[in-house]
Amino acid sequence: MNFFYTSVYTSHLSHLILAITTCLCLFVSSVNAEEVKSQEAIFTDAFDGSPIKTPLKDGEEETPALKEFKATSVNPYLGNEEAIAKGKAVYEAWCVACHDVGAKGKMGPSLVGKTFKYPQTANDVGMFAVIYNGASGAMQAFSKREITQDEILKLISYIRSITPQ
Ligand code: HEC
Repeated sequence: MNFFYTSVYTSHLSHLILAITTCLCLFVSSVNAEEVKSQEAIFTDAFDGSPIKTPLKDGEEETPALKEFKATSVNPYLGNEEAIAKGKAVYEAWCVACHDVGAKGKMGPSLVGKTFKYPQTANDVGMFAVIYNGASGAMQAFSKREITQDEILKLISYIRSITPQ
């Protein structure tokens, strides 16, 4: 009898522990999902991963989209037709000579593949950092040119829009 009660008790206890663990796991994963969704953007150097700062130029405006991008790491221009059209124009003015039409790569690598020379290029914060801060050789830091950070976001939305799924 004693044994019976003990085992019933133990099995209830183990159910309880299982339930608590499940709740905790669900809670932790929902918190994590929330963090992934809106995480402040940390821009890093393509070579050593060290953090870089992205100050605005004199007179440059922090557009609502740029502000949102820096606060959440999500590019608000993704899928926005107007932004994509503007990004394409910027691409044709500044990038096409080296990365070719459709960003398929020429003397600079393809920007529309599945893998990249710098793994961080796969996400928008990382690609922003490479464009802003530059990489080696011909890939200059575009923060030094007449391109705004808002235009970099539009450029990225254009590049992602022509990337095969
Ligand atoms: C003068 C030639 C040249 C121009 C212009 C140029 N790039 Fe590049 N780009 C390169 C080269 C070369 C590399 C490879 C750099 C390296 O290996 O470090 C590169 C690398 C990159 C990468 C990293 C790719 C990867 O695989 O990780 C991105 C992103 C990029 N360029 C975007 C742009 C964008 C956007 C523009 C226009 C604003 C642009 N580039 C203009 C030559 C150029």
